[in-house]
Amino acid sequence: MPLLRDTALADAFDRGSGRYDRLVSLNPGYHAQLRRSARRLGLPDGGAGRRVLDLGCGTGASTAALAAAFPAAEIVGVDASAGMLERARAKRWPSRVRFVHAPAEELRRAGVHGPFDAVLAAYLFRNLTDPDTVLRTVRGLLVPGGRLAVHEYALGGRRADRLMWDAVCRGVILPLGTATGDRTLYRHLWRSVAEFDTVPAFGARLGRAGFEDVRVLPLPGWQTGITHTFVGRRAAGETDGAR
Ligand SMILES: C[S@@+](CC[C@H](N)C(=O)[O-])C[C@H]1O[C@@H](n2cnc3c(N)ncnc32)[C@H](O)[C@@H]1O
Repeated sequence: MPLLRDTALADAFDRGSGRYDRLVSLNPGYHAQLRRSARRLGLPDGGAGRRVLDLGCGTGASTAALAAAFPAAEIVGVDASAGMLERARAKRWPSRVRFVHAPAEELRRAGVHGPFDAVLAAYLFRNLTDPDTVLRTVRGLLVPGGRLAVHEYALGGRRADRLMWDAVCRGVILPLGTATGDRTLYRHLWRSVAEFDTVPAFGARLGRAGFEDVRVLPLPGWQTGITHTFVGRRAAGETDGAR
């Protein structure tokens, strides 16, 4: 069976949205890891005067991480799932945070325009039909020198990494998905990670999309070696682009 993509994926997230926050709360370190990736965007002065995009913001867990890391930044959260966004919007946010319902592939049509000083995409890229095009769009939305942080599951490329991921999915993720009625979504999680880029492949993909100074940073806890922050920068001298 093909992986869930586009509308089918948004529908699956719509259906799972009511249980999403409870499920991630069972994942030790989920929120702390998002905050760590957000901080890696490195905006100065608490983000005062800066704009940050949270691409694939879901129920707002990554948005909250950005809001904590940069208490003075303007933040725009974008997601393709109306159900996930409804959960995000139902939370209390400062007026500097807003949400837009749009696929990452149609930001401009949805009125999401750059420039942004930084972009966070947490658990998004392995879900996209055409990650390269979205990466290039994101690069064009950034100010010259602006940073992208991709917080993502990516396996190391060794057979042992794949075996570890399979074991975690069989032992924890799929049983949880079955118990909560979200088996389709959690089967998608298993396969989308297994079939997406390894760590070096995603780093190379960022480079091909024109990001500079690409770094892969580890995250602590049980997800060490499975979840990473990829950080890349739009070239300081690059001034054109899709805004
Ligand atoms: C696993 S959730 C992560 C949510 C949030 N970033 C977090 O860290 O908890 C992935 C999110 O990406 C969204 N998504 C998937 N494909 C998308 C696309 N093409 N455009 C925008 N959002 C998308 C889903 O609707 C879902 O809310």
